[in-house]
Amino acid sequence: MKYPFHIERTETSRLGSVDFKNLAFGKLYSDHMFVAESKKGRWTDCRIIPYGNVPFSPASSALHYGQIIFEGMKAYRDPEGKPILFRPEQNHKRFNISAERMAMSQIPLELWLDALNELVYMDQEWIPENPGCSLYIRPFMFATDRFIGIRPTEFFKFIIITSPTGNYYTKPVKVIASDHFVRAFPGGVGFAKAAGNYGATMLPLKEAQLKGFDQVLWTDGNEHKYAQEIGTMNVFFIIDGIAITPDLDGTILDGVTRDSVMQLLKSYKLKVEERKISMEEVQTAYEKGLLEDTFGTGTAASVAPISHIGYRGKVMELPPVEKRIYCNRLKADLEAIKRGQMPDLFNWIVKVKSKLILEEV
Ligand SMILES: Cc1ncc(COP(=O)(O)O)c(C=O)c1O
Repeated sequence: MKYPFHIERTETSRLGSVDFKNLAFGKLYSDHMFVAESKKGRWTDCRIIPYGNVPFSPASSALHYGQIIFEGMKAYRDPEGKPILFRPEQNHKRFNISAERMAMSQIPLELWLDALNELVYMDQEWIPENPGCSLYIRPFMFATDRFIGIRPTEFFKFIIITSPTGNYYTKPVKVIASDHFVRAFPGGVGFAKAAGNYGATMLPLKEAQLKGFDQVLWTDGNEHKYAQEIGTMNVFFIIDGIAITPDLDGTILDGVTRDSVMQLLKSYKLKVEERKISMEEVQTAYEKGLLEDTFGTGTAASVAPISHIGYRGKVMELPPVEKRIYCNRLKADLEAIKRGQMPDLFNWIVKVKSKLILEEV
């Protein structure tokens, strides 16, 4: 291995105490985590160690200035029970795009894949088998410079933790189109998975929930006219037999699920348009009975049907989920592909392998 790993196994696995039949999202963490340090552009001290607290300086610039990025991906078991990953190179690409925007170290693909493979291989017993469940993988990186002046730094910590999880949403999602808060603006960091993007959504989310909605449907910052995305999901509208999703204009995260769903929709011979879509267009389609489906797409939620869209004091109620064609078919196909239960026609699945075990043999 180009980046040698130090391995320290836990002496007290918590696996036996996990109730795999009742998993919520993001509450439990597996036995081990991966940690590495970047010093002046060089990745060193790669290690898999027992999951636990991470010591760092209170002067760390991540704490003060939010120089933190992350990713979200999942591991599944194939029908033989072997661990598999879904499109891990796409997350690597996006992580480095986020890193570049936040002036942080790039992660070499080999380090990314080695870290994921070794960690998931070691904790593969933590991958749940129940339908809808998986091992959520959270890679993240933050600046560790002990300096509270503001400057780009060359010291970072890269960590991966994993978490056995159940469904993110247990029922269709009610969203409200934002008419005063803004998630992302051209020239900003909307296309990056930067932590600050999410911190800034807590208050709008709280307000949306007080109004009886589950999530915010973000709109552009100039006019609050065009749809952007929903919470931590990209959005698709099916209008009169055409799938429309906002184009990647720099304010929207380039979702791995979004891309996968577009490829699936095209394979169903549905026309897919990546373009600006205004809330007026959605409202007009709804009034004419042409808004067939609306759903969010994301790693955590997979394909999440939207049941209601609040917009300018009115609420659009979408057709019952069981009557919709696309969100159901997409969800079923995507989940089957991710679990190796359907032919992998798009080459999305990667088998988890350990180089360390091979080296030991
Ligand atoms: C803001 C935002 N949009 C969209 C997505 C969906 O991206 P993906 O499908 O890669 O999980 C996410 C989740 O990562 C997100 O945080």
